[in-house]
Amino acid sequence: MHPLVLAGVFTDDPYNTYVMSKTSRTAHRTSLFPESVIREMTRVALSVGAINLSQGYPDFAAPQSIKDAARAAIDADHNQYSVTWGLKPLRDSIADHYRRHYEMDVNPDTQVVVCTGATESMIAAMLGIIDPGDEVVIFEPYYESYLPNCHITQSTPRFVSLRPPVEGAVNGLAEAGAWWFDPDELKRAFGPKTRAIIVTSPHNPTGKVFNQTELELIAQLCQQHDVIALTDEIYEFITYDGQQHIPLATLPGMAERTVTISGMSKTFSVTGWRLGYAVAAPDMMTSIRKAHDFMSVCAATPLQHAGIAMLNLGDEYYAKLKNDYQQRRDYMIETLRAVGFKPVVPQGAYYTMTDFSAVSSQDDLTFSMRMAKEVGVACVPGSPFFSRPELARNIVRFAFCKKRETLEAARERLWKAFGNS
Ligand SMILES: Cc1ncc(COP(=O)(O)O)c(C=O)c1O
Repeated sequence: MHPLVLAGVFTDDPYNTYVMSKTSRTAHRTSLFPESVIREMTRVALSVGAINLSQGYPDFAAPQSIKDAARAAIDADHNQYSVTWGLKPLRDSIADHYRRHYEMDVNPDTQVVVCTGATESMIAAMLGIIDPGDEVVIFEPYYESYLPNCHITQSTPRFVSLRPPVEGAVNGLAEAGAWWFDPDELKRAFGPKTRAIIVTSPHNPTGKVFNQTELELIAQLCQQHDVIALTDEIYEFITYDGQQHIPLATLPGMAERTVTISGMSKTFSVTGWRLGYAVAAPDMMTSIRKAHDFMSVCAATPLQHAGIAMLNLGDEYYAKLKNDYQQRRDYMIETLRAVGFKPVVPQGAYYTMTDFSAVSSQDDLTFSMRMAKEVGVACVPGSPFFSRPELARNIVRFAFCKKRETLEAARERLWKAFGNS
């Protein structure tokens, strides 16, 4: 081998881990991972006592009945590994859940895996279906774990821009007020190496809910190019103004080529319980289950028992969840507007991408630090959600999955800092 290569000089292949590992005690792939800016902002918020509107976790209680179910499962000594695919009654409940909400026909024995959150479901899905050198289409801004997932699977992301709302409807696809994409840009992103597309709807960080027309275009491209869709639907029950979430798998021809991913974190306000799941056609599921088995064996068994109780909650639970979030969203948008920010009104999920250029000319990273340390309200800079940071230098993201009093306290601090600007 050439001495320069032995010395760790980079070759054309960014995944040449053999070469890089010769000169370092750490794996080259991790040098490609960014530090999670979202979790970093939470650490800053905690250290300076800022109100944490950065990371997307609720500060209010989870439903009492599911806490009781978890406690009962521990008392009943459900202490051991479950079947790696997930407890059979939980998989049955997941299949029932898809039938009840979307009339999807899911076989719990061959088409479901329970993982430690949607996060693990997504990486298990990618390890299960993506080979090195494959391309993955990703809308940007994107949820931050998709890029490291590409590095782990040695696949190449192909980004398609989601663009902020403009006046009026665009392209006959997106409605007024919604983030939108250029259909030609999406078409160009599909090529001979495209293996998968990640569709996050409702979308973090933009709050976009992909509509029927947009999903039909994605479905058509997937079928034309023999591409698999990986859908991240973790916010499926948090939508506003009557918006309806449509699982891509329900479109004609898509059940066979979609891995549908969701979980309990957001719907039941239990992000720390680490419960999620993926649903896919049996051939893909066999692979995904194997990847999951060798990563985590199974999700926490007593919490899987509680998962059954969660999915059995009645329609009134979902209606209240939606209604409560609608109030939080409206209050947050009104607050940000009142202090001179320009928030985009989300259609779903619980974040707002917010232009702060009217109150500061700082860049997003500097402004976010100032927000946490001086204003006492932590948010997340916009740029880590983009492959090209310059697209978000005047944008921050606020999470509003918080109690009313938390949002009121944030409003007070924002008003003090920017009220007269
Ligand atoms: C789009 C998206 N997917 C997945 C997750 C994480 O889900 P889980 O807690 O089930 O791993 C998040 C959390 O913020 C998210 O925003």
